[in-house]
Amino acid sequence: MKFAFIKLGAILLLATTLLSCRGQKTENPPMRTHFNMHFQDRFNAQEENPYFENGMAMRLPIEGTVARGMLRNNSILFEGVDEDGNYVDEIPFELTRDFLYRGKERYDIYCQVCHGATGNGQGIIMTGQYGYVPAPTYHREASYNMPDGEIYSAIANGVRTMPSYATQIKVEDRWAIVAYIRALQKSQNVPETEMDRFDVDLAQLVDQYRAEEARLAALAESRTARGDDEVTAARGERLYIQNACQACHSLDGSVVVGPSFQNLFGSERTFTNGNSTTADEAYIMQSIVEPGANVVQDYQNAMVPYDFLSESELQSLVEFIKTLSDE
Ligand code: HEC
Ligand code: HEC
Repeated sequence: MKFAFIKLGAILLLATTLLSCRGQKTENPPMRTHFNMHFQDRFNAQEENPYFENGMAMRLPIEGTVARGMLRNNSILFEGVDEDGNYVDEIPFELTRDFLYRGKERYDIYCQVCHGATGNGQGIIMTGQYGYVPAPTYHREASYNMPDGEIYSAIANGVRTMPSYATQIKVEDRWAIVAYIRALQKSQNVPETEMDRFDVDLAQLVDQYRAEEARLAALAESRTARGDDEVTAARGERLYIQNACQACHSLDGSVVVGPSFQNLFGSERTFTNGNSTTADEAYIMQSIVEPGANVVQDYQNAMVPYDFLSESELQSLVEFIKTLSDE
């Protein structure tokens, strides 16, 4: 009796196993007893529909309609500008400890790779030399004077060659990041007299700072050592690509973010400070390592100093730029 049950069980098991995987794929929906509303006429996205004048099945929302929760009528909050279109200089949230830490967390996820953990522009993407446009440091006058709304706008809309992070970062988090960047800026500018207000080990901080300086110096050293001392236009052309100069400087006369290199060498340059000069080797060299010294008229001071390039690299870039002039 017991044996018969086991036999029956084994046969049933074998039968279900064999029947359940017959290895045939089907496009048909699984078996259904009630069809409910599974099958009905409808249009797929982008499909035609001759019923409407423009022949499209997809309809635009009626002008002026706002989806629930999508009303964006507060320009300060959503765009960082007041009703006159000027960047605001305040963060429209209460600055609590949690808010700042939220900003730190989001900053470390989204911005640190380029702008660096302390905001010095030395994130891993930059120090690794992946050929990206260098991220500017937040620790410079222009950045200190930048209104909060403009930093917000950099996240929401991008800035020149930096893409927008609007799809990844929510409005409140964007402002939290702005607050954290302000905190970073403060953190690099605390006078020694104020330091004892904080519970920090100064000696240890100094050690850390020295170590970081040494690391950056060694990095710059290794870059210089890596390049041979060859000075050629061909090497300059490679450097032009590797250092992402082409993101801002064209070779065909068109204006991207900065002036084109076409016919730059030997031309007369006028600057925002009213001065002018002829673009010779020394001028081009200085423009690369110290772009803020003379800002070309009609342009912004948007170029990060490429002061990490070696002498022969700079000279090669100059040689390359020379080949782009007619004379
Ligand atoms: C992939 C690298 C990268 C990431 C990630 C990145 N940035 Fe940038 N950022 C740049 C570059 C490059 C520029 C300079 C763009 C230019 O001038 O063309 C820039 C410029 C800026 C500026 C203008 C700075 C100035 O002083 O002129 C701000 C503000 C800024 N970024 C904020 C942010 C914030 C906030 C985040 C994170 C949400 C972020 N960036 C993430 C690369 C990056
Ligand atoms: C993020 C954009 C950007 C990048 C990247 C960039 N530049 Fe610039 N550069 C500018 C802008 C904007 C100006 C004009 C304002 C000024 O003079 O600083 C400029 C000015 C110059 C000038 C002076 C041009 C003139 O018309 O007088 C030279 C030379 C130059 N850049 C070389 C370089 C080289 C070489 C590289 C790459 C190693 C480079 N730039 C990368 C934006 C950039």
